Amino acid sequence: MDSTHRLVPLFTSQQIASRISELAAEIKRDYHDRCPLMLGVLKGSFVFLADLVRQLDFPVELDFIRVASYGAGQETSGRVKLLSEPVAAVEGRHVLLVEDIVDSGITTDFINGWLKAKGTASVKLCALLDKPSRRRREVGVDYRGFVVPDRFVVGYGLDMDEKYRNLPGISVLNGE
Ligand code: PRP
Repeated sequence: MDSTHRLVPLFTSQQIASRISELAAEIKRDYHDRCPLMLGVLKGSFVFLADLVRQLDFPVELDFIRVASYGAGQETSGRVKLLSEPVAAVEGRHVLLVEDIVDSGITTDFINGWLKAKGTASVKLCALLDKPSRRRREVGVDYRGFVVPDRFVVGYGLDMDEKYRNLPGISVLNGE
């Protein structure tokens, strides 16, 4: 690991797994007869999405949208780049966006706008982490794993300059 950073554990993989089971029960209650299109927001959501869908015992479809706004920094640039559209047609679908974290809300706001313009039947958001203290756009989180403080968090899909995504738990990154 990068010697200039110290990782302080925030959520263990066991705590995350247990919370995901609860989220899956909520999602099942609302979507069990709607075959939602679960849209993972790459790259950060890939670990969460993989664990979440394996807790769902009803028909779902999966696709991905890839956007980026942070580059190598710890602050959003405020400009969201759509790097890759979903392959699936989203028109008329019940879309469940899956995010690792909602911070400023700028990414979610951008994707919501993009999806609405495509004529989706509904759009909801499932985010493992919510950092409401940083919000710059009003976005609703329909299924929320954990609220996190205003600290930079890594692991379980979340990166700092592309590193740490592979950690099994979530940690706070402290500079020296
Ligand atoms: C991260 C994260 C969310 C977004 C949240 O993505 O995965 O998509 O930032 O931040 P916001 O609410 O302030 O917009 P990032 O742009 O870093 O790309 P990545 O998923 O590839 O790491």
